[in-house]
Amino acid sequence: MAKFLTVKEAMDKGRGKVALRGWVWRERKSNAYAFIVLRDHTGVIQCVIEKDKVGKKVWEDTEKLSIESSIELEGTIKEDKRAPAGYEVHVDKLNVIQFAERFPIVKDKSPEFLLDNRHLWIRSRKIVAVMKIRSTILGAIHKFFRDKGYIEFTPPIFQPTQSEGGSTLFEVKYFKEKTYLSQTWQFYAEAAVYALGKVYDVSPTFRAEKSKTSRHLTEFWMAEMEAVWLKLEDITEIAKEEIKFIIKEVLKNNKEELKILERDVKLLEHYAKAKYPTVAYDDALQLLKDKYKTKIPWGKDLRTIEEDKITKHFGVPVVVTHYPTEAMAFYKPPEPDNPRVARCFDMLAPEGYVEIMGGSERSNDVKYMKKRLKDMGEDPKKYEWYFDLRRFGSVPHSGYGVGVERVVAWICGLDNIKDAIPFPRTMLRKSP
Ligand code: 4AD
Ligand code: MG
Repeated sequence: MAKFLTVKEAMDKGRGKVALRGWVWRERKSNAYAFIVLRDHTGVIQCVIEKDKVGKKVWEDTEKLSIESSIELEGTIKEDKRAPAGYEVHVDKLNVIQFAERFPIVKDKSPEFLLDNRHLWIRSRKIVAVMKIRSTILGAIHKFFRDKGYIEFTPPIFQPTQSEGGSTLFEVKYFKEKTYLSQTWQFYAEAAVYALGKVYDVSPTFRAEKSKTSRHLTEFWMAEMEAVWLKLEDITEIAKEEIKFIIKEVLKNNKEELKILERDVKLLEHYAKAKYPTVAYDDALQLLKDKYKTKIPWGKDLRTIEEDKITKHFGVPVVVTHYPTEAMAFYKPPEPDNPRVARCFDMLAPEGYVEIMGGSERSNDVKYMKKRLKDMGEDPKKYEWYFDLRRFGSVPHSGYGVGVERVVAWICGLDNIKDAIPFPRTMLRKSP
């Protein structure tokens, strides 16, 4: 066979002899012709095999070709308006690498069946498109922070305590003792900023979420940042800039994938340019009351339906700040002038995707944090190393975490977060 091209390279060439290899995506055969749609990591292309033009052996092989069989072929590529991708290959030579067994995934399989067969379903055009966009998003996060001089800092995944609430903590047997899986890198990032100034990471995060929503995974990736001297007003602006940068990178690199996913590109272009509002929790309650006749008792955390209404009102991502201190993690500091609310924020994405990130300034008041931990039933002694950070040159610092899959799901317009990660883990699923 000649030098192999990818499907995309072959279409770019557009004419003449080409050699291709990949998998049978679709096949349709008659007495005289076989139409094989070949798939590789760059796309699909229709290949026509004509009984009278190929030898006996090739035609016998062609008749046995099944979905996902792996093949190499050589032929002539031509533009053809009728072909699904606009090009067609007329095959001269065919070499079968493996005749696939009957592929279990056929049309109209249930989402559960597709999840059971995720190791095969990741070949689907949909999941391939999502995984490519996910890769762009991860790359964009690294680029965004590195260009700003942030240092990539990697946290431990085994951690000795909770950080975001004991009820979602995964316990792990650790020789004769026990430890926990990371709920956030934050405490380690807070140690790191005293050495490195400003840091970021993208790392696996674990939460024993008992909820079966379309927005929760038990294993997900969080992209976090932490920096000294920054205040709430600074990090909310960085957060907005980061999201816009991510969207721009996807628009630049993934036109094809957005088309496959039938995503509204105009809307993404709008998100990439628009101004994102910042509203305080109190104003959000007022808005819910005035516009949606929804009365939330002060002090309650906002629920998905309420967050959805807030983003509907603005039509772009919204930063909500100053949530009630009592409902927040122990490390979020009360607002000095109004201690009932904390110096923290969430960013809510529109179209029902709601919370995609959360962050705050970090309390430097050890007495306050100890009290909050005790109120939660935690033993503050286990956090002594964290309090050391407040004893040796304590400075103001802040940070936030972006839920990578939440952003992927939103940008791709997915119905469920499970399709935003290659092998999802939820309360009810831990394999394949
Ligand atoms: O709001 P969270 O809990 O914030 C923190 O963990 C902070 N320590 C971050 C920081 O300040 N460095 O989580 C951050 C984000 C959420 O906004 C959400 O997007 C995502 O992580 N997230 C989840 N994504 C998928 N499945 C889950 N179970 C998630 N839990 C949180
Ligand atoms: Mg949160």
